[in-house]
Amino acid sequence: MKLKKVLVTGAGGLMGDYVIQELKDRFQLSGLDILPDKNGLPHIQDSILNVDAVKAACEGMDAIVQIAAIPNIWSGSGSEIIHTNVTGTWNVLRAAQEAGVKRIILTSSDSVIGYTVLSGSMIPPSYLPIDHNHPRRPTDPYALSKKLCEEMAKSFVDDDAFEVVVMRPVFVLYPEFEAEVRARAADPKGYKGPVSSAGKPPGGGAMWHYVDPRDLAVAYRKALIMDEPGFGPYFICGPTILAPDETLKTLRHKTGVDIEVKDENIYELAPFAPLYDLTHAEINLGFKAVHDLREQYDLYG
Ligand SMILES: NC(=O)c1ccc[n+]([C@@H]2O[C@H](COP(=O)([O-])OP(=O)(O)OC[C@H]3O[C@@H](n4cnc5c(N)ncnc54)[C@H](O)[C@@H]3O)[C@@H](O)[C@H]2O)c1
Repeated sequence: MKLKKVLVTGAGGLMGDYVIQELKDRFQLSGLDILPDKNGLPHIQDSILNVDAVKAACEGMDAIVQIAAIPNIWSGSGSEIIHTNVTGTWNVLRAAQEAGVKRIILTSSDSVIGYTVLSGSMIPPSYLPIDHNHPRRPTDPYALSKKLCEEMAKSFVDDDAFEVVVMRPVFVLYPEFEAEVRARAADPKGYKGPVSSAGKPPGGGAMWHYVDPRDLAVAYRKALIMDEPGFGPYFICGPTILAPDETLKTLRHKTGVDIEVKDENIYELAPFAPLYDLTHAEINLGFKAVHDLREQYDLYG
C-alpha cells in the first residue's frame, strides 16, 4: 500500500520533530499541535480535543502518525492525562475513519506493562523477555491512558476502519537529557534528575531503558513503508539498559524475585540487554536500534 499524505500530530514536540526529519523526504507531511510548526509544514495549531480541528487535519490523509499527548506522569493531573490522551486519541481515530485514512501509527508506551516512573517502581514481569503478548498492568494514569488508547485502536482495526501499528517506545533519550543520564550514572542511588522530570526520578523506569530518537524515527518510517507491519505492539528500545548492573541482577534487586527467563541465551550473550523482546519488531517492522548509548556515552568506564 502506497501512503503519500501523512499527518503528524504532536508535530511541535520533541518526538514529532525527529519523526518529521526522518519522513519529510518521502511523504507529503502536515502537522497538528497546540504548539506552532517548526518545520515549514502545513500545520493546524490546535488541540486534539477540538473535533473540528482534528477533522480538518485528517481530511485527505493516507496515514496519521498519532504522537500528540500529555507525554508523562508529571505534565498534568491524572484527570487531564486521561482526558487529553484518551479523548484526544479517540477524536483522531474517529476523524481518521470518517476521512478514509488507511493506516495509523499509534504512540503508546512501554509503561503499559506495569512500570510507573512516578516512583521508579515496577510490577514484576510474568516472564522474560517481555513480548507483545505479555499482560499489561498499568499502575498510573499515564500508563493507563496508553493502554486505553491501544484498546481503542484495536477496536477500530476489528471494525476494518484502517490498519494500526502500535509503537511502545521506552524513555526517549533526547540529546537534551545526556547530562542527566551522565549525572545519574555517576551517582546511581543519590541522583534526583532536574532535567527531564522536574526533580522526579529520571527517565527509563526501574531498569533505565532508553531509545535514541534517531532510531525511534527510523522505526516510525518503517511502520509507514512496510506492506504488512501488523498491529504490533512493538517495543521501540535500544540494545542495552543504562543501569549500572547487569539486567537480571538489576531486575532481581528492584523486584526481589527471580523471573522466569524463556530464552537464557539473550542475557548470557548480552548481559545488559533490555527486558523487552526486540525480535518481534526486527522481524515484522525490519527495525533494530543501532545506537548503543551505554557504549557511546561510556557511562561506567
Ligand atoms: N519521551 C518519552 O520518553 C516517551 C516514551 C514513550 C512514549 N512517549 C510518547 O511519545 C509522544 C511524544 O512525546 P515527547 O517526548 O515528544 O513529548 P513532547 O511534549 O515533546 O510532545 C508531545 C506533543 O504533544 C502536544 N500536545 C499535547 N497536548 C496536545 C493537545 N491537546 N492537542 C495537540 N497537541 C498536544 C504537545 O504540544 C507536544 O508538542 C507522546 O505520546 C508520549 O506519551 C514518549
